[in-house]
Amino acid sequence: MAGFTISFPVIVVAAVVGLASLVTSQSLPPARYDGFVYTDCRFGSDGVMIEAFLDPVCPDSRDSWVPLKKAVQYYRPRVSLVVHLLPLPYHDNAFGASRALHIVNMLKNDSTFPLLELFFNEQEKFYNSQTMNMSRASIVKSLTKFSTQVVGNSYYSAIEAGFNNRTTDLKTRVSFKYSTSKGVDATPSFFLNGFLLPGAGSPIDFKGWKTFIDPLINEHKE
Ligand SMILES: *[C@@H]1O[C@H](CO)[C@@H](O)[C@H](O)[C@H]1NC(C)=O
Ligand SMILES: *[C@@H]1O[C@H](CO)[C@@H](O)[C@H](O)[C@H]1NC(C)=O
Ligand SMILES: *[C@@H]1O[C@H](CO)[C@@H](O)[C@H](O)[C@H]1NC(C)=O
Repeated sequence: MAGFTISFPVIVVAAVVGLASLVTSQSLPPARYDGFVYTDCRFGSDGVMIEAFLDPVCPDSRDSWVPLKKAVQYYRPRVSLVVHLLPLPYHDNAFGASRALHIVNMLKNDSTFPLLELFFNEQEKFYNSQTMNMSRASIVKSLTKFSTQVVGNSYYSAIEAGFNNRTTDLKTRVSFKYSTSKGVDATPSFFLNGFLLPGAGSPIDFKGWKTFIDPLINEHKE
């Protein structure tokens, strides 16, 4: 046996700290499966399931989106797509942008993907260097205004309230935790029928998607 012992008080303290964090943070697993459903072909049918792990302010995630959408369109209705948000720690505004997406999803779920696309189109606004002189409060304000471009100005105060509502913070944490629980540490990352595709951190072009998906679809036909 290893020659070390853990003293009883240490165990008690660890247990109490563990319990306290359980009480004050969200419970896992969450009540609802993480992720935003883009297209859904009934699970268990002979469809193919893509899970994408994306960061709204990551350039490679942005570059992966158009070919991914094209592939989903091409294989419709055989392919389902669920997007999980992974706010990367070295993108200063990734968590805030992801939180905005969760807020908008709760307020008006059909605006979720339009807002994600707006982030992809204008993500430079929220890059580290562009926001380095801004306070956290003014970044939240900027994210709030940015989101109203999709949902409408009448939602301004609801989004503002969303940023002060712990529920949306916890939902965003669940997305992060789900990603890390799958061992994902780069965006974009893609799982096909539950298995990680090679090349995590780089976009996959339409030809690449065909290479991955065609054999699976053909297997169904046999
Ligand atoms: C989106 O909201 C509508 C109306 O509230 C609801 O019927 C629908 O089930 C929701 N969709 C998702 C994916 O949550
Ligand atoms: C941030 O502030 C520094 C010092 O005032 C200035 O040199 C720099 O240009 C500012 N950067 C931005 C992006 O505003
Ligand atoms: C936070 O959002 C949840 C879900 O929409 C809602 O049920 C709750 O009342 C909100 N809490 C506050 C303090 O507004």
